[in-house]
Amino acid sequence: MAVGIDKLGFYTPSLALDLVELAKARGDEPDKYTIGIGQSVQTVVPNYEDVVTMGVNAAKEILTEDDLAKIEMLIFATESGIDNSKSAAVFAQELLGLSPFIRTIEMKQACYAGTYGLMQAKDFVTLHPDKKVLVIAGDIARYGLKTPGEVTQGAGAIAMVVSADPAIATINDDSVYMSRDVADFWRPVDSTTALVDGHLSTDVYKEMFLTLWQRYQEQTGHELADFAGFAFHLPYTKMGKKALDQIMDQADNQQQAFLREQLTASQVYNRQVGNLYTGSVYLALLSLLQQGQLTDGQRLGVFSYGSGAEAELFSLELVPGFDKAVAGQDVLAQLAQRQNVSVAEYEAIFQSQLFDSSKNQESDAPDGTGLCQFVGWQDGQRRYRFS
Ligand code: COA
Repeated sequence: MAVGIDKLGFYTPSLALDLVELAKARGDEPDKYTIGIGQSVQTVVPNYEDVVTMGVNAAKEILTEDDLAKIEMLIFATESGIDNSKSAAVFAQELLGLSPFIRTIEMKQACYAGTYGLMQAKDFVTLHPDKKVLVIAGDIARYGLKTPGEVTQGAGAIAMVVSADPAIATINDDSVYMSRDVADFWRPVDSTTALVDGHLSTDVYKEMFLTLWQRYQEQTGHELADFAGFAFHLPYTKMGKKALDQIMDQADNQQQAFLREQLTASQVYNRQVGNLYTGSVYLALLSLLQQGQLTDGQRLGVFSYGSGAEAELFSLELVPGFDKAVAGQDVLAQLAQRQNVSVAEYEAIFQSQLFDSSKNQESDAPDGTGLCQFVGWQDGQRRYRFS
């Protein structure tokens, strides 16, 4: 039975920072950011957004009455969760109007957890083909002002409905995965910003991709020529190129040119949003599905990486009509509608986040957006609303 991704929705907050402006403010060459790292714009997070609001807003885009009736599990993957005990999934269940008779859970392993959630969803639906699972993967990548990681910040969430006979892509049963304790990126529980050794992270990412690619080939017999494109985890878009370059010599010149074009197509959205940790690889997938040259029945590779470190490589098969199934959301228009902020405004917004739960306080949530918002703290509890 075919089980896979039936729907794919994306949401990112409404403010954006031009990275050429950030480069100038930080005394860096703009080309370092836009070419060397491969990021042009990053989403800026107002203090009325968090992983719950972004995940709910992403899911609201795609859920129908039939989905609400059949979803039996909500898996929320995030490494920037809003509570050390209560899962973001419970908040999202209520806000989305899902049945109380479902399982809800939050998962964490850096940027990898969304893929674990997707695989859990696949296994559950394989056993229960009349049910669906909602997987949300969303994060705020927050490194800190004037840090080397600042240029790779970003935010957003992906929501995926996993079902039998999916409308977008079947998840093939060909995963290879690995885990190893590495100190390349982490965030202590008392810290609101991540700690990162970016160059070590790049090395481990590349090494894990190469190791898993060799293992994948041994276990499946597939070659590079069998793939119509790859969606890579993209903490910054250059990372996908660094990984793919390692195996490009396995393709002829024509295939190499094609795979490079497909890689560029997969990077369009991430280049304008920045890192959304757990959601990044699935934003790259959405970008490839909407901007790439693809046809029914083709095989796509997905490489998921989470620092710390864990990685998984698997493939998807595009089902007939996938292009119509992903055409509903105009992501380029959504990105273009964001309001540009100056570096000074971004810095003020960065410092305006409501991390202190000990006092009652309200966020700057505007009225009339129709979106889910974090309203503020009341008696130590987070409050949400649809404005
Ligand atoms: N024009 C074009 N390219 C330029 C340039 C210029 N003027 N100046 C520098 N570059 C290139 C460098 O050659 C380098 O390219 P390469 O990686 O292909 O060699 C790239 O820009 C970055 O330069 P570098 O000196 O390595 O930058 P950095 O020390 O500031 O680190 C990151 C960059 C991405 C490692 C850093 O921003 C970071 O750690 N980000 C977080 C990464 C992350 O999230 N990791 C964990 C999740 S997987």
